[in-house]
This record gives sequence, structure tokens and C-alpha cells, in this order.
Amino acid sequence: MVVGAGITGLFTAMLLAQDGRDVAVIDAGDVAALATGANTGKVSLLQGSRLSSIRAHHPASLVHAYVDANRDGQELVREFAETAGVPFVRRTAFSYAHTDAGMGRVRDEFTAAREAGLDVRMARAAERDAVPFPVAGAIALDDQIALDPDTLATALAETFLAAGGTLHTRTRVTRTAVLPSPHVVTAAGSVFADHIVLATGTPIADRGLYFAKLSAQRSYVVSFEVPTGEVPGGMFLSVDAPSRSVRPVSADDGAVGTTRLVVGGNGHPVGRAESERAQYEDLVAWTQSYYPGARESFRWSAQDYESHNLVPFIGTMPRGGGRIRFATGYAKWGLTNGPAAALRIAAEIQGVAVADLPTWARALGTRMTAPSDLARGATENAKVGVAAAQGWGDALTHPAPVPKPADGEGTVGSRAGRPIGVSTVGGRTRAVSAVCPHLGGVLRWNDGECTWDCPLHASRFAPDGTRLEGPAVSDLAVLAEAPSADSPPSEG
Ligand SMILES: Cc1cc2nc3c(=O)[nH]c(=O)nc-3n(C[C@H](O)[C@H](O)[C@H](O)COP(=O)(O)OP(=O)(O)OC[C@H]3O[C@@H](n4cnc5c(N)ncnc54)[C@H](O)[C@@H]3O)c2cc1C
Ligand code: FES
Repeated sequence: MVVGAGITGLFTAMLLAQDGRDVAVIDAGDVAALATGANTGKVSLLQGSRLSSIRAHHPASLVHAYVDANRDGQELVREFAETAGVPFVRRTAFSYAHTDAGMGRVRDEFTAAREAGLDVRMARAAERDAVPFPVAGAIALDDQIALDPDTLATALAETFLAAGGTLHTRTRVTRTAVLPSPHVVTAAGSVFADHIVLATGTPIADRGLYFAKLSAQRSYVVSFEVPTGEVPGGMFLSVDAPSRSVRPVSADDGAVGTTRLVVGGNGHPVGRAESERAQYEDLVAWTQSYYPGARESFRWSAQDYESHNLVPFIGTMPRGGGRIRFATGYAKWGLTNGPAAALRIAAEIQGVAVADLPTWARALGTRMTAPSDLARGATENAKVGVAAAQGWGDALTHPAPVPKPADGEGTVGSRAGRPIGVSTVGGRTRAVSAVCPHLGGVLRWNDGECTWDCPLHASRFAPDGTRLEGPAVSDLAVLAEAPSADSPPSEG
């Protein structure tokens, strides 16, 4: 059984179903409802400054294994897309610096990529000059893939079903257990299986405390209609601040109507931005300053997880009897890392001996933790601790009732010593517990998405308290009445 119908879950399920296994996929939402359907569609081995970041903390052999895994993942996507008729386009990927100060990172990436066996080159002047935004320098990798991730996921689901699999959407898993035999619990009942694969982004089981070994970044994407001649041919990703991902789209790699340009960036830890809405506005302003004719067509955001040791976690969970597997920590490169994880997990379930797994699968499977990883983990967990203390402190010093929030706004106050969240969306004011059911973080209002977001481990909830994503598995408690400034205060 696979929990999660994102790219990891769908590829894993499809490979196993095509092998003749009886496979069910369960998803809390719809196919590709989270990061898989909301990314920028780059199936690329050149990944910004990813390789040099890993290389700064790990041996060259590990970076090589990471690239090999991503190459196999990319190849799986290409083969599947060709077989299933999913359109894709070959494009050159660029990792670029906005200014001279960022050129050191470009050079580091060049060195790390070459060392890992990638045929990168320095970008030509004509390629740099082909875009209107400043590019101090860039490295390039030709023949990477761009596609519409939603179309890919839909085709994966259809192929899985055609191979005999079953798919249960809008069914949330609330518990994972191995005794008396491996099963998951949902509102519709328990489902038993020989193997359970948690392909849920961050794992929904707390075994191994992986939620505390990951940090979650929320990022923003805006698509634009722009005059044809202005669109770059390649996919650009900055290595220095501000983070910018710029890619053209055509009918074959995801364009809707006359949309031709997708711009992403402004990532930040989930629940820790002053204003999420401002991140969108900044992306729009940046784009229109370089493409004056650009007209916004869509905007969306999503989150992905990075492991503290910078390399994805793929494998069995502690205390799962070898029957619970998971994969996460792709750091916004899941279109290649997800299929690679699926290859490895499916092979293990099929009983392939460790010695017969690809070399990269053995190298990446080892749980290596360098002193710097511990330091990075400690730093992130210290930030989580600060966010936890701040959330409770702020909530308790702002007693409810609070003034009724304006439409699209939410605010946290305290009632009877407990933080409550009050929001108004679409004219409707609601009150919910503002305490995250995962481990008690105090939620913050996300004014870009109109959601309650947890600054600790990135769970998110709708204004009515419905859990949307993250390690929490239950909804927020709904408070019977939305308190307003007119209500008598329940505490001082
Ligand atoms: C803005 C942005 C841009 C990106 N751009 C790129 C890119 O260009 N190229 C690239 O390679 N990567 C990119 N990524 C990263 C990529 O999108 C992710 O790494 C990848 O989609 C993760 O896939 P997944 O299957 O592991 O998780 P997800 O897509 O998050 O899927 C997890 C699934 O599990 C389900 N689930 C969760 N909890 C439960 C539960 N309790 N019960 C049942 N089901 C549950 C969810 O509903 C969801 O469908 C980007 C990410 C972001 C945020
Ligand atoms: S997600 Fe862990 S406390 Fe909220």
C-alpha cells in the first residue's frame, strides 16, 4: 500500500502494479494536490547550487551517487513520458548569479557538477544576453526536460489503474501501525498490507522523528502572459539572492492559453514569513520590471522538505519491522529524486538483494551524519524552539476576543489560557484552536493562501480547521462561536 499520490507514491505504485503486485494508493486529497502538481516542472540534473551545497558537507562520491540517482530518476520520467504520451520539451538549464558577488557560487557549482560527472559548461554571452534580467554569469547543462507536472501525475495515475491498482482519494491516513500486522487507519476503516510506503512529503508517522530532521520551505510561483519574442529558451535558476526560477512554457510543457513564462522564488520556512501575500507581490513586481508587458495569469505556492544532511531520506522507518518505507527531503528537486526513490523502494519490496541495487541506492541509503549536519539540525531545531516559545508568548499576551478580522485576514489571541485563531474568509468569520495537533505549535495566519500554518514542522490547516498537509494528521478543534470584539471577554 502506498500513502500519497504525489510523484513518489505514483511512480512506486505504478512500478509495483506493473510487476503484478496488488497495490492500493490512498491520498488525503486528489492526485498531485500538493507539491507534485504545483512545482515549476523542471526535470533537471542541474539544480541551482544543490550539488556544491551537498559537496560542501559530503565526499565527492556521495554527490556522484546523488547525481546518478537523479539521472536514473530523470530517465524514468523520460521513458514514462514517451510511452504514455506525456508532452515534454528539451531545454538548457542555467544556474546563474544576479551579480558578481554570486559568481563564486556559480564556479563552485561548476566544479561540483563536473566532479560528479555532469557535462556542464559556462553559459555563452549570447545566452546571458537573451534574458532581460541581470545575469553576471551562469553555467549551463543542455538537454534537460521541462513538462507539466500535473499532466505527468495524471498519466501516472491512469497507468497505475490500468495495471490493476486501486486509488482512494480524499481518504486521510491518521495512523500507521505494524502490529498485529502492518496497517493504516483511515476514517473509512483500517487497511492491511504486506508493505506500507509513506510518500506523504514529510512522513505522517513520527517514528524516527524525521519531522525534526527536515526543514520545510514554502515557495511562490506566478505565471504570466508575455509577448512571444521576450521569452527565454532556457530554464534559469539563481544561486544567489533573491531566489528566482524563470522558465518559459509552451503548449508542450504546461502552457494554459497564452501563458508563456513562469517565475518562482522567495522561499522561506513555513509559517515564518511576515506576509506570504507580499512574496507574490514581490515576484510580480520583479517580473514586470524586466518584462513590462507581462500580465499575471495564475499564482500559487507549495512547500517541499530538505533534510538536515542535505541528501534525501529514502528507506525503512525505525520500529517498522522493515515493512514501513518512506522517502522525503528532496529540497525542491522531487521530479528526479522522487522517481529515483520509487525505483529503490520498489526494488526493495520486489526483493532485489542490496548487492544488486544500483550503486547510488546503496550510497544514499546509508544514514550518514556529519558533524556539520548535526550543527545544521541543532540550528534549525533551535529556530523551531524559538518559534514555539514566541508563538505561545504572543498568543497569551493578546487576549481574545479580538476585533473581527478583515476579509482575508486572521489573528491569534488567547481564551482561557489557550491560543485561538479567528479568521474571516469570503465574508465568514470562524474560530479554531490555534494549537497545532501535531506537537502543540501555535499557528500563524498565512495571508497569501488564507490558511493557518505551523512554524514548527509545517503542518497547514484551512480556515475551518481542516488539515491540509504536514505531519499533523487531525483537524483543528473548531470553536463553537466566532468571538468578536462585541462579545464579553472570557479572560483578562
Ligand atoms: C514551488 C516549488 C517548485 C518546485 N519546482 C520543482 C522543479 O521544477 N523540479 C523538481 O524536480 N522539483 C520541484 N519541486 C519539488 C517537487 O515538487 C517535490 O519534491 C515533489 O513534488 C514531492 O513529491 P512527493 O510525492 O514526495 O510529495 P507530494 O507531492 O507532497 O505528495 C504527497 C501526497 O501525500 C498525500 N498525503 C499527505 N498526508 C497524507 C495523509 N495523512 N493521508 C493520505 N495522504 C496524505 C498528499 O495529499 C499528497 O498528495 C518544487 C517544489 C516547490 C514547492
Ligand atoms: S507541525 Fe509539528 S507542531 Fe505543528
